[in-house]
Amino acid sequence: MKTLFVMLSILSLAIAQQSESLKYLQYDTDVISPAEYKTRRDSVMKMIGQDAVAVFYAGPERMRNADVDFLYRQADNFFYLTGFTEPNALLILVPKGTTVKLNDSMTQTVNEILFVQNRNPLAESWTGRRYGIEGAMNLIGVQAALTNDKFKTTFQRMLFSGIKYLYAQPVTSDVSGELRELVQPIQSFVDNVKVRNTKIEMRDPNAMIHTMRVIKSPEEIAMLRKATEISVVAHNQAMMSVEPGMYEYELQGLYQYVFQRQGSEYYGYPCINGAGENSVILHYNTNRKKINNGDIVLSDCAAEYRGYSSDVTRSYPANGKFTKEQKEIYQIVLNAQKAGIGAAKPGVKWSDVSAAADSVIADGLYNLGITKTKTGMGFKKFYNHGLGHPVGLNVHDVGQATLVAGMLYTVEPGIYIPENSDGVDPKYWNIGIRIEDVILVTETGNENLSAGSPREISEIESLMKKKGIGNQPLK
Ligand code: GLY
Ligand code: MN
Ligand code: MN
Repeated sequence: MKTLFVMLSILSLAIAQQSESLKYLQYDTDVISPAEYKTRRDSVMKMIGQDAVAVFYAGPERMRNADVDFLYRQADNFFYLTGFTEPNALLILVPKGTTVKLNDSMTQTVNEILFVQNRNPLAESWTGRRYGIEGAMNLIGVQAALTNDKFKTTFQRMLFSGIKYLYAQPVTSDVSGELRELVQPIQSFVDNVKVRNTKIEMRDPNAMIHTMRVIKSPEEIAMLRKATEISVVAHNQAMMSVEPGMYEYELQGLYQYVFQRQGSEYYGYPCINGAGENSVILHYNTNRKKINNGDIVLSDCAAEYRGYSSDVTRSYPANGKFTKEQKEIYQIVLNAQKAGIGAAKPGVKWSDVSAAADSVIADGLYNLGITKTKTGMGFKKFYNHGLGHPVGLNVHDVGQATLVAGMLYTVEPGIYIPENSDGVDPKYWNIGIRIEDVILVTETGNENLSAGSPREISEIESLMKKKGIGNQPLK
C-alpha cells in the first residue's frame, strides 16, 4: 500500500512537472482557437469520406548558411489544419476512426492523430521547449498525439485498413533531414504503387485545403485586420521619420521594429524600400542605397500576425514634398487604385476590377505623353504586374476568379519609369509609384483595412511634417 502511494505520488509529481512546463509554451493568447482548427479538420474528414485517410506533414526547416537556419515557419496548409508551429510533425485524419494506444493503460478510438517531436531536455535546452504529446493534446486540442517515431507503423496500418483513397501531400524536393526520414513511408507508397498493385487511389489534398482557405473566417479576418493595422502604424512612422541622407536599410529597420513592437512575430515578406532608381524595381529588397533629396521612396512592407500576412505599400518623397512630376504619376496611380477599389464587391470578377484600374493608367500615361497610344497594352510597359492578389497565411494567398464576402485582396496599381526609358521625357525617369491597400470584401462592397495610412498627396505631405521615431540619434 505504502509503495503504491509512493508510486502514485511520483507519477502525479511527474505529471505536475510536465503540465507545469506547458504554461511556458504559448505566450500569445490572441491566437485562433483550437475549436476552429478542429472544425477545419472535421470539414476535411467530411469531404474525403469514410473510405479515405488523409496525411499532412509540417513544413521543412531551411538552411540559411552552414549551421544557421532561417527562423522556422510552419507550412501554410499544415498550420491551417492544426495551428501547430513545430517542425517534424505529421497529421493523419481517419474519418471512420482508428484505435490508438495513448499509453500503457489507455487505448482510444480517434479520428485524428498528430505526430510530434518527443520531449528532449537536452535539445530543448538549446532550441526551446517542445509541446510533446501532452502539449499537443492539451493546447493544440487534437484527439490523440503520438511521438513522430510512431508515424511509420500507424501509416502502414492505415494502408491495410480497407481504405479506397489515400489523400497525401506529395513529398517535395525541399524536404530534407529528419522530416525526409519521417515522410519516407509516404514516398515508399508512391514509389511502390505499381509493384504492389494496390487498389488504393492516391489523391493530393492540397487543392481541397486551398479551396477552404479562400473565404476567411471572422477569426482569420481579425488576424489580418491586426496585421494590417500594425503595418499602417509602421508606414506612418516611416513617413514621419524618413529624410534625405538616411539609408534604405534604416527605413527597413524602422518598419521591422514597429512591427515587432506591436507584437508581430515576423514580416510577411522581405521589406521593399526602394529610393530613386530603386523605386522602379518591383521586388527590390537589398535596401542598401542612401536616400537622396528628391528621391521618391517606394516602401512595400507589411507585418505577419499569428501567421497571417498583410501587404501594404506607400510611396512618398524623401524630403516630404512631391515634385511636380512625382505628383503627376502618383495621382494617376491613386486614381487607378480608387477605380479598382470602387469596383470590388461580391459577385464581381477580379479581372473586371483590374480592368477598371487599367484604363485609368492607360489614359493617364497617354495624357502625360509617356505612351503614344491610348489603346492597346502599351501602358503595361510601365505597369508590369497584376492589380493585386488575395492575402492570408501566404502574402500571395489562394483565391478564386469571382469576389465573395470574406475574401481579402490587395489593390496595388503602380507605374514604374526606369532611367533611359525610350521616348519618355527624362523628367519622369526613376519615378516608381505603387499604392497598395488590403481590402476586405463585405456583403455590400468592401472595407479598406489599411485606410489609416494616408494616400492623398496633401495628407502625406502634411503627415511628413511631423517627426517620427525613426531618426532620433542613437547616442
Ligand atoms: N509585397 C509583394 C506584393 O505586393 O505582391
Ligand atoms: Mn501585394
Ligand atoms: Mn506588396
